[in-house]
Amino acid sequence: MDTALSAERLEVMQHVGKDLDGLISEYLKPIDENWQPTDFLPDFSKENFATEVKLLQESCRDLPYDYIAVLIGDTITEEALPTYESWLMDVIGVDQVDNPSGWSRWVRAWTAEENRHGDLLNKYLYLSGRVNMRAMEVSTQYLIADGFDIGTDRDPYRNFIYTSFQELATNVSHRRTATLAKKFGNPHLSKICGVIASDEMRHAKAYKEFVRRILLVDPSELLLALDDMMRKKIVMPAHFLRETGVKMGDTFAHFSDAAQRLGVYTTNDYIEILESLLVEWEIGSIRDINERAEKARDYLMALPARLKRIAERTRVPELAYEFSWIK
Ligand SMILES: [Fe+2]
Ligand SMILES: [Fe+2]
Repeated sequence: MDTALSAERLEVMQHVGKDLDGLISEYLKPIDENWQPTDFLPDFSKENFATEVKLLQESCRDLPYDYIAVLIGDTITEEALPTYESWLMDVIGVDQVDNPSGWSRWVRAWTAEENRHGDLLNKYLYLSGRVNMRAMEVSTQYLIADGFDIGTDRDPYRNFIYTSFQELATNVSHRRTATLAKKFGNPHLSKICGVIASDEMRHAKAYKEFVRRILLVDPSELLLALDDMMRKKIVMPAHFLRETGVKMGDTFAHFSDAAQRLGVYTTNDYIEILESLLVEWEIGSIRDINERAEKARDYLMALPARLKRIAERTRVPELAYEFSWIK
């Protein structure tokens, strides 16, 4: 991104970030009132912990293979939080050294909430007895070491578009694993996925609001950023996911196929998220923008229909893949 554009971005970020305390208190929960992973797990200091673990394992025994695989993939995605925090810390306008009371506070407070997700799911899977934890941990370490390539650069506009999209995508997938857990007779796991899903929705609302505020002051540039992100396609944060002996990214493809087969996160969800963002940000009715932005707006408004036509032609592999993560 060139210097002049970077300077403009910085100015907008300072403007949008003026009310950071308000944004933090509106979209994040006070730490002392927030749920913690332990609230949903057997207490090992209690005498009945062995019975509780046994019941937990019994309630996981009949969870289908693909379902466990998706839960593991979701967990690893959450556990790669260091990648997301360090990436956001480097975005233009997020300056922890010279402006420690600015956007870096948001990034840290958001990370602190997110950290509970991987923590809770990891502990649950460990207790479930269904998972080869070592193989899962190897994948987690690989994913953090490999990082990601989300095409946002250091641009706050592209990054907030990305996080708006991503928080909605994780809301959908955790919500669906919650519904399925109930269907498979595991209300406890359903509750766990449900509380995580509601965090993701709160975060989505925050990032959508940041974008909305940017749109008010810099609509042309925001539209160009959105156009660029959608042309590149929003890649999932775990797109480099792998296992021992598997090429980088190949495990992600299998994980994503399993999610499609189960209906936890599908191409259709991708399109619906895009549609919901176009409505939410009122992209179709944006006026007084430059010519390039007008073209971007029109491209974006026509995109969902185009993606639907392509989606009709793509087929999900029926053949199940054998993950090293599952015993
Ligand atoms: Fe999360
Ligand atoms: Fe999230």
